[in-house]
Amino acid sequence: MDLIYLDNAATTPIFPQVVEAMQETMILHFGNPSSIHAAGRAAKARVESARKYIAKELGVLPQEIIFTSGGTEGDNTVLQCAVHQLGIKHIISSPIEHHAVLHPLEHLEAQGLIKLYMVKILPNGLPDINDLERLLSEIPAQKLVSLMHVNNEVGSVLDIEIVGNLCQKHNALFHSDTVQSIGHFPLRLGELPIDFAVASAHKFHGPKGIGFIYVRKQTGLGALLLGGSQERGMRAGTEAVHNIVGMETALRLSYETMEADTAKLKELKAYCIHQLKEVLPGTVFNGACADMKHSTHTIVNARFAIDEKKAQLLAFHLDLQGICCSKGSACQSGSESGSHVLQTLLTPLENKSPSLRFSFSAHNTIAEVDTLVDILAKHANS
Ligand SMILES: Cc1ncc(COP(=O)(O)O)c(C=O)c1O
Repeated sequence: MDLIYLDNAATTPIFPQVVEAMQETMILHFGNPSSIHAAGRAAKARVESARKYIAKELGVLPQEIIFTSGGTEGDNTVLQCAVHQLGIKHIISSPIEHHAVLHPLEHLEAQGLIKLYMVKILPNGLPDINDLERLLSEIPAQKLVSLMHVNNEVGSVLDIEIVGNLCQKHNALFHSDTVQSIGHFPLRLGELPIDFAVASAHKFHGPKGIGFIYVRKQTGLGALLLGGSQERGMRAGTEAVHNIVGMETALRLSYETMEADTAKLKELKAYCIHQLKEVLPGTVFNGACADMKHSTHTIVNARFAIDEKKAQLLAFHLDLQGICCSKGSACQSGSESGSHVLQTLLTPLENKSPSLRFSFSAHNTIAEVDTLVDILAKHANS
C-alpha cells in the first residue's frame, strides 16, 4: 500500500539531493573540524561555508548562527542561558508553545529561578496583544518574551514585528521558536526586532538531529553545552559536518522553490478545507487555520462532527488506509493526555469531538486530498 504522507509538521521526507550531499560529505570531509591538519581544515571550511550561506539567506551575520542538534536543544539553550547568564528573572510565554519551550520554562520556574507569566491566547490561536502589552508594562526589568512564530498544531502565524517592537519598547528580550517557519517563510531575521530564533532541518526536508539558533550579536548569550570551543565557544561538541551540509542543502532547495511551493500549498490547503466542509458537513477548523491571512499554508487542523464510537476509531482507520496524519502534535500522538494546544483553544465539549492535523509539503497532491476526504466520508457514513 502506498502511504499518503500528511504529517509534514511532525517531520518531512528528506530530499534525495540532501542525502547525496551528506554521503559525499561523510566521505570527502570526514575530518574533525577542530583538527589543524588538512583533513580537519577541509571539514571546517565546509562547516563555515554552510554557516555563511544560511546567514546570508536569513540576513544575519555568520557568527550569529550557532549549529545545534535541533529545535529542542535550540529552545533549551536560549531559555536556560538567558536565565543563567543574562540574569533574566521574568519570562512571558503562552500555553500553546511547543513543549521544547514550555518544559524548560516550567523547570526554571520550579527551581525558583524565574517568574513565569502566560499571555492570554485568543480563540484564533494568537496572543492577545493588549494582554501582552499589559504584562510587559507591569513586569519589572530583566524580562524575556518567548512566543512561537508558527504554531505546530493549528498553524497560527504570529506577527513577529508587532511583538518584537513591543518587546523593544519595554526593554524585553524576544525569543521566537521559528521551527515551523524557517524553510517555509522567507524570514529576514536580521531585519526583524528579534533577539533569538530557532530552526530544525527535519522540518524542511533536511536530516534529523541538526538545527541552528540565531543569537543576535549584542545579546551576550553563551553556551548551554560545555566541553569544547566549537561554535566559537557557544556550543561544545564535534560538529556533525554531514548534517550541517544536509541542512544547508535542504535550505537552498527550499528557498529555490519557496515562492512556487507556497502558492501551490495555499491552493492545496484551500481545496482541502473546501472539500472537508462540503463532504463532511459540520467540520470546523481549529484556531485560525481556515483563515489564510493568519495561518500557515502548511497546516489544516479539522474537528469532525461524528459520533463518539466512530470518533474513537478515526485516526486508527486512517492509519489502516495508509494515511499518515496526526491527532495532536507529533509528540502527543500515542499519548492519552491530548493536545495542550486544543485544550487551551477549545471548550471541554468542543474538545470531545475528534480533531486531526493534516500538514502538507509541496509534494502532496489534490488527488491525495481527494483520497483522504473520500476515506473520511466513508468512515463517517458507514
Ligand atoms: C514548534 C516546534 N518547536 C520545537 C520542535 C522540536 O524540534 P526538534 O524535533 O528538532 O527537536 C518542534 C518539533 O516538533 C516544533 O514543531
